[in-house]
Amino acid sequence: MDMNVSGAGASSPFAADVVSPGSLVRDEPHVFRVHGRAYTDRAIFDLEQKKIFSKTWIFVAHESELPAAGDFKTAHIGLQPVIVARGEQGVVSVMLNRCVHRGASVCRERNGNTTQFTCPYHAWSYALDGRLTGIPGWKDPNGYSEKFQAPEGLHKVPRVENYRGFIFASFNERIVPLAEFLGGTVAQIIDRKLKQSPLGRIRLQGRPFVSNYLGNWKFQSENIIDGYHFMFTHQSFVQLQSKFGDSTGDFGVHKGGTPAEMRRNRMLGNVVGSDFGHGVNQKPAVSYDSFFEGDYAAYYEALREKHGEEELKWVVGAGAACVFPNFGMIHNQLRVWRPVAPDVTEVTVYPYSLEGAPAGFNEGMLRSHERFYGPNGYGAVDDLEVFAANQQGLSAAMCEWLIMERGMDAEKRLDSGEIEGLPSSETVHRAFWRAWRRMMTQS
Ligand code: FES
Ligand code: FE
Repeated sequence: MDMNVSGAGASSPFAADVVSPGSLVRDEPHVFRVHGRAYTDRAIFDLEQKKIFSKTWIFVAHESELPAAGDFKTAHIGLQPVIVARGEQGVVSVMLNRCVHRGASVCRERNGNTTQFTCPYHAWSYALDGRLTGIPGWKDPNGYSEKFQAPEGLHKVPRVENYRGFIFASFNERIVPLAEFLGGTVAQIIDRKLKQSPLGRIRLQGRPFVSNYLGNWKFQSENIIDGYHFMFTHQSFVQLQSKFGDSTGDFGVHKGGTPAEMRRNRMLGNVVGSDFGHGVNQKPAVSYDSFFEGDYAAYYEALREKHGEEELKWVVGAGAACVFPNFGMIHNQLRVWRPVAPDVTEVTVYPYSLEGAPAGFNEGMLRSHERFYGPNGYGAVDDLEVFAANQQGLSAAMCEWLIMERGMDAEKRLDSGEIEGLPSSETVHRAFWRAWRRMMTQS
């Protein structure tokens, strides 16, 4: 019996007890399918930790979170909890948040400033770079003998690099430089976001907003650059906005208008996927000329002077990026989604302000952000609901494959080697899954 309901003739990984990751992605002429077990299987989830999260660059902090010596935050590289700390000389270290004595979490705060980390269990202490600096009772008669070999300190994550304020870390000592990893269209999106600031810098604002959803982490990777879902998933927001207009001012976050206008605007621009698995979804500014007539005309004029007309249309347009595997930028926020279990993901959203921009502009951007993405916002919860619906749907395992062929025959390879597709195509999803399969099958 063929149970391969939408797999277009593929052999079925469904029946196998142990599934091979290479069999979960079908990439053939005119066919691109992903098997449901890629999102639901515990063994696949565990293998992702080893083959992806331990092998590539993972975003851990923005430098505005750690401006001074002693500043620290906690983060994760996949399932591994880490401490990110700025030392006395300004160097940022990333180390496992696990005491080398008997394994307790050394740091239990989200962020702060300190001179050292002290384990809550037996008070072993560590410097800002992770060096072991103290063991209570070391020389006591019932302490450690002369032969005791004390460890150096917390386990350091060997590679830490900073691209224009974005700090990434990797367990893979041989990984390519961060600038090369981000190169191409993703770096262009980051650069364009920074160009919105007269000083070329952003600053994360306040406390991040953290939420969880009952679905696999890869749903968020796919969604942040998905140009297909907005008018459907966010239908209530579309209706509200078309009825009442944009009550908080338009700062580039979801231009209003009638549903027909919104649909047309969303079909501008393009998506671009890279071999590293990154994807971007970008469009030039809508109603560009009106920017030079409002309260912030001088701000926009200064940006036009600096960057030129053609570039500015993209700088102040809409751009979203998914940096493989679990970091993104969209509108005026950074976003990290971390795997917790095959069907549980934590999402952290960090709104940011533009350094040097008018205070009222930054205030308006934050209000606009809250309106869609905040705890009481109209939009972000729609996506979280859909991710949970995705996971629930996949429990109907007799239907095995997900279809990711949208726009497949209308895409083209750019000189950079990246692939460009139409705005609502699944070009970027295919780029993600090709990188996923390559990494999951590498020895
Ligand atoms: Fe940390 Fe004992 S577990 S000091
Ligand atoms: Fe959405």
